[in-house]
Amino acid sequence: MSDQKLSAVVLAAGKGTRMKSPLPKVLHPVAGMPMITYPLGALKALDIEDVRVVVGHGKALVEKVVHSVGYSCFEQKEQKGTGHAVMAADFKTLEGDVLIVNGDHPLIAPEDFANFVNQYREDHAAIAVMTSKLNNPGSYGRIIRHSGEFQAIVEAKDCGHEALEIKEVNSGIYITKADVLRKYLPKIEANNSQEEFYLTDIIALAKQDKLTVKAYESDPRVCFGVNDQRALATATQSLMRSKVNQLLDNGVVIIDPQNTYIEPTVQVGAGAVIHPGTYLRGRTQIGQFCVIEMGCQIQDSLVESNVIVKSHSVLESCKIGETAQVGPFARIRPDSDVGKACKIGNFVELKKVKLGEGTKASHLTYLGDAELGKNVNIGCGTITCNYAVDKKKYKTIIGDNVFVGSDSQFIAPVEIGDNAVIGSGSVITKNVPANALGVTRARQVIRENYVTPEEN
Ligand code: UD1
Ligand code: CA
Repeated sequence: MSDQKLSAVVLAAGKGTRMKSPLPKVLHPVAGMPMITYPLGALKALDIEDVRVVVGHGKALVEKVVHSVGYSCFEQKEQKGTGHAVMAADFKTLEGDVLIVNGDHPLIAPEDFANFVNQYREDHAAIAVMTSKLNNPGSYGRIIRHSGEFQAIVEAKDCGHEALEIKEVNSGIYITKADVLRKYLPKIEANNSQEEFYLTDIIALAKQDKLTVKAYESDPRVCFGVNDQRALATATQSLMRSKVNQLLDNGVVIIDPQNTYIEPTVQVGAGAVIHPGTYLRGRTQIGQFCVIEMGCQIQDSLVESNVIVKSHSVLESCKIGETAQVGPFARIRPDSDVGKACKIGNFVELKKVKLGEGTKASHLTYLGDAELGKNVNIGCGTITCNYAVDKKKYKTIIGDNVFVGSDSQFIAPVEIGDNAVIGSGSVITKNVPANALGVTRARQVIRENYVTPEEN
């Protein structure tokens, strides 16, 4: 793109009545991220400095997300239409070419904006609009052309029968010059069925003054605006499907692409195998040659290479070291660090625990607020009792090569030295030194002839 200044205004003040939800429309998650982060992310990729987001409905919540991306907000106190919204963005101080973007278009990509800006600049147009041809143009504004020349945008609600048949629709994405906005925005009126100030009306005014106004057709993806829950679900599906296709192209084995859910923010290494019903979310990274079996949910986790996550395991904000095995039916909660070659079996829950290399907890166990060394063997049914009556959490520390017999409990805070052995069924309340046996079982008692055989 040229050095000419480019600014942007993003419209995100509307209530989103058709969503029938208390959450502001632009904050509804699309494939795990608030809807508005998609157009904002695409603008960021173009390095546009002056991006102004018009907020109104649910202002405080929307502002948080906008500020996290590093852009500024302008308040539109009453939502009187898209034209009125641009005026709320302190429009008199805008400079250069101005991109105007609806905040409810999550499928937009940076190259869509880049191509659009280039076309407009090449044609020396005063205003341009991005359009698409849709089989079901529904409630979108229609593009009116005479002999191919773009004339006007008419909202579906203001269209007659003939205009409603038009398949080419308005994307709600425009570019114009700051001077054009300054000249025409104050002139638009609310003479329409919705009694709103339509931004699209500046086009008719510019045409009257014989300015060059262009409509550029692009991919239907660009026009896809979310106005209701159905469209929100379609947007999520579309982004997840693209992600799955991208991973297939990069050598990931996905057994049933239709039934695999992967958010765009996830990374998966080549040679990994993803089974059906898996849901990979957020900042998750899956290494090369991992196998993620059926029905696993993994969020914000780092899974190193050659790991097997067996079916129906749930992982959140954790790290799994290379060649480890987890599950089936394991739950790994936040801040857990499972070392290389560890084995975590069925019905094992881990929370805020660090496991050294080669440590095993194969069955029915809870380990929380704990630190375990290398090659520890945790028997079935072991519990670290981390939560005390004072409502505080305490830590269990277990050294290298410790053998913990089944059905043992550690009443934290407690520390077990290297190579120690814990007898099965023990409740450990005191520290056990290295190389020692710790056992708290009562001795077995035998009473001969305890049961009197029935007389016959
Ligand atoms: C708009 C276009 C329509 C186009 C469609 C594409 C107008 C008049 N119509 O219709 O031609 O086909 O987008 O998706 O522009 N907003 C504000 N303040 C307001 C009103 C709206 O900030 O006072 C924001 C909304 O939050 C939303 C965007 O502007 O992000 C578009 O508004 P919406 O009501 O969704 O317009 P559509 O009916 O979809
Ligand atoms: Ca819309």
